[in-house]
Amino acid sequence: MSYPFQITSREAYDEAYKKSVQDPEAYWAEVASSFVWQKKWDKVLDWNFMDPKISWFEGAKLNISENCLDRHLPTHGDKPALIWEPNDPEDHHRILTYRDLHFKVEQFSNVLKNNGVKKGDRVCIYMGMVPELAIAVLACARIGAIHSVVFGGFSAQSIADRLIDAQAEFVISSDGAYRGNKEIPLKSVIDDALVQCRFVKKVIVLTRTRIPVSMIKGRDVWWEDEIKKVETQGNPPCPAEAMDAEDPLFILYTSGSTGKPKGVVHTCAGYMVWTTYTFVNVFQYQPDDIHFCTADIGWITGHSYILYGPLSAGATTLIFEGVPTWPDAGRFWDIVDKYRVNILYTAPTAIRSLMGFGLGPLQGKHLTSLKVLGTVGEPINEEAWHWYYEHVGKKKCPVVDTWWQTETGGVLISNLAGVTPAKPSYATLPLPGIQPLLVDENGKEIEGNNVSGNLCIKFPWPGILRTTYGDHERCRQNYFATYPNLYFTGDGCLRDENGFYRITGRVDDVLNVSGHRIGTAEVENAINMHTGVVESAVVGYTHDVKGQGIYAFVIYSGNHGDENLSRQDITQTVSRIIGPLAKPDKIQFVKGLPKTRSGKIMRRILRKIAEGDFANLGDTSTLLDPNVVEEIKEGKI
Ligand code: WTA
Repeated sequence: MSYPFQITSREAYDEAYKKSVQDPEAYWAEVASSFVWQKKWDKVLDWNFMDPKISWFEGAKLNISENCLDRHLPTHGDKPALIWEPNDPEDHHRILTYRDLHFKVEQFSNVLKNNGVKKGDRVCIYMGMVPELAIAVLACARIGAIHSVVFGGFSAQSIADRLIDAQAEFVISSDGAYRGNKEIPLKSVIDDALVQCRFVKKVIVLTRTRIPVSMIKGRDVWWEDEIKKVETQGNPPCPAEAMDAEDPLFILYTSGSTGKPKGVVHTCAGYMVWTTYTFVNVFQYQPDDIHFCTADIGWITGHSYILYGPLSAGATTLIFEGVPTWPDAGRFWDIVDKYRVNILYTAPTAIRSLMGFGLGPLQGKHLTSLKVLGTVGEPINEEAWHWYYEHVGKKKCPVVDTWWQTETGGVLISNLAGVTPAKPSYATLPLPGIQPLLVDENGKEIEGNNVSGNLCIKFPWPGILRTTYGDHERCRQNYFATYPNLYFTGDGCLRDENGFYRITGRVDDVLNVSGHRIGTAEVENAINMHTGVVESAVVGYTHDVKGQGIYAFVIYSGNHGDENLSRQDITQTVSRIIGPLAKPDKIQFVKGLPKTRSGKIMRRILRKIAEGDFANLGDTSTLLDPNVVEEIKEGKI
């Protein structure tokens, strides 16, 4: 497969960028022409950021699964689409060609239909990293059901919240999942979630670990039994549903600065064009390359760069079930050598954690197949960048530092591997179609270079979110109301003398812990659920491996003398309410929190204290009780 829209030189980048700004409709119409459409669009773009209303390729009919599967069959049906490396390196790996994957997706699409799933229905998927997860996602897309994948590390309560918000009547899960030396009882977590969700009609359960599960009559069915039924029907084909360009493709929940996670909605056509375009350009994908993205499919990175982007481009994508440090810290390198991986895409937190094991685990590994390295999810510090570049890429693989968000669908700012220059810890330049600008607190544009400000985007690109599920006003408030007529990213950013962008981190109350987004308010709400807790305030602090750690200041009345036990109880509560990924790293018991006279917690001060930066607390005279600051400083952990 060739990619007419692949940019292969710096000049071509400049030219494409210019065209994408001067005549965006013509530019994207040309890119879109290399996809399969059941009906062409009437209008390329219609938009305003006030409502907001954004529509790309309106009037077109398509199905993303057809673009990811059917269109590849005539030319490379026997090419591996998906390579699966199991958690245990001793287990058998699996390889599914495009033909295999197409067959299995059609088969499972029929399973979904047999179980009453219809176009527009919401389907929650809660599974480990197995090929059936990819099959389930693509089958939903094929019949036009809206998938909502929930990461396996979320608790029953978090799943219930998401099921309720999306009014999802269908769940796809598995008995359990393997992750390193752990076995996670997924179905049992689903059962706990469903106590609150009586509206769920069907749960389809894949066998993976054979951990005992309770199957409820009339509601729960085994994946394998349902497949057998389709086989007895003679495996009829399942033609891809004709979807409107702007029909929702999926919902993915992500944390914001306030309240509960919101369901970011992406639609069929724009998301497809954007993920494919960015995949091919950022990583400079070549037709025989093996692409290994280490993210979990439960996050946007997995959606866009394990599944949709690579498959739509006809690439070979590798799915890894396990973790980078099991059975040892050389696991990624073993996988790279075993399958001769060409593109490795991972998170700075993984790199930093592997750096901690020294160079030992790299010894004896060839890594000669690698051509491109990528990072995503959080700012990468220079030390980690250099380690990755020198010890993994042997100084011959460009590193792409890709900045983007759940809401953006795909990469917005990144160098293009080997095509545009890299600069350690810089995402560098915007992709064609992306018009970034920096603004000050008042929304005034900061022009010129060597400046910093809040990062906004002033023009829509095909992959931008369309709404937050069930609450469009929330979408407007969150992203489009801070600065009129701009999409606000929530990130701080600087632009160097060459116009290269460096993302410095969130400027709102969102934490980025090991590349996972967590809202401080969410963690506080969970901590406050514990009986002994009177009040709490959560901030982030610099953490060597995780990037940011979670620091909780807690007013606690239930202390029975053992502070450590109380800390464990609180941690356990957070784990129950949100999931283990939101557990505080540090809990400090305090008598009071620094509040303004109007009762607002001054997090600015708490952030400084958590960092140990006592000299720069700023003005504390406006506090209701300035003495609490002294007390908190003394008790810092
Ligand atoms: C952060 C992940 C610096 C940023 C794809 C953003 C980054 C948030 C980078 C989105 C990067 C992501 N450099 N920071 N290359 N990539 N971020 O929604 O703060 O899980 O707003 O999407 O991660 O996280 P999300």
